[in-house]
Amino acid sequence: MKRKVAVYPGSFDPITNGHLDILMRGLELFDKVIVAVAFNIEKKALFTVEDRLELIQQAVNYNENVLVDSFNGLLVDYVKKVNARFVIRGLRAMSDFEYEFQMASMNRNLNKGMDTLFMMTSKDYYFISSRTIKEVTEFGGSVKGLVPEIVEKRLKEKFRLS
Ligand code: PNS
Repeated sequence: MKRKVAVYPGSFDPITNGHLDILMRGLELFDKVIVAVAFNIEKKALFTVEDRLELIQQAVNYNENVLVDSFNGLLVDYVKKVNARFVIRGLRAMSDFEYEFQMASMNRNLNKGMDTLFMMTSKDYYFISSRTIKEVTEFGGSVKGLVPEIVEKRLKEKFRLS
């Protein structure tokens, strides 16, 4: 039986095919998934939050079961605000584990009613991250097949490669 709604939070600067893979698999478990873009003050973003939201919408082809939103402050507060219980996160490798374990445990400490579900990234995407995607594009490498076409185009424009 499918549950109603889950929140898939992240920086999504920009969305990659690894994110999309987790999102689509999330939709097999939940009727709706809210992709929640965090205003992450620690990270200097390449794309504005508005651009990131638009890129996600285009990447999912305006799928009506994918709700795209942004949030500021604590994730637990946002999850409460949208009446959700589950948060989805992708796990690429052991190196992700410590950070994710810490974050999920802290979130659960803040809100006992919230649970984080982890999905292993598919083998084709376990080595990619938004950070490496930006770096490779900046220095002229190809990220074809690793990000949606619209993201590839926007990245090239950002780095004035097209
Ligand atoms: O894609 P990212 O950068 O790994 O996503 C991290 C994110 C945005 C999910 C995380 O930093 C977050 O939830 N930020 C909101 C602030 C918060 O709730 N912090 C407490 C978690 S310990």
